[in-house]
Amino acid sequence: MSLLDDLFRAARAAREKAYAPYSRFAVGAAVATPGGEIFAGCNVENASYPVGSCAEAGAIAAMIAAGGRRIAAALVVGEGTALVTPCGACRQRLREFAREDTPVHVCGPEGLRRSFTLGELLPLSFGPDNLTNDG
Ligand code: THU
Repeated sequence: MSLLDDLFRAARAAREKAYAPYSRFAVGAAVATPGGEIFAGCNVENASYPVGSCAEAGAIAAMIAAGGRRIAAALVVGEGTALVTPCGACRQRLREFAREDTPVHVCGPEGLRRSFTLGELLPLSFGPDNLTNDG
């Protein structure tokens, strides 16, 4: 089984647990660390709509809580005809722990639809390196 398969299965399982009573748009996400550990999350909506959180945020929080600090690959799964690419805020969330060449796989319930690099999704990004003072 490939890393892509493992990410997809983890994200799909998390998606089944999504709490999305308002949009009825369930999303699952998974991230892999360089060591191959996988963490998944789902969207969690709220009656106060802006308080809801995306699946990617949940996956990243699970990774951080387990001690992970680097994302080697990420995957998002959702349905519909349009690609469920990470929203702008989640691209920036991924950026904190990933690199320009980190793959971000976009899936439908049936499987992989398209793969991007994070640099393609978030060009000229602002990241932790911008805050170092070593020139
Ligand atoms: N959503 C995600 O969880 N991740 C994405 O990449 C796109 C959007 C969620 C947020 C909200 O709960 C629902 O999908 C509809 O926007």
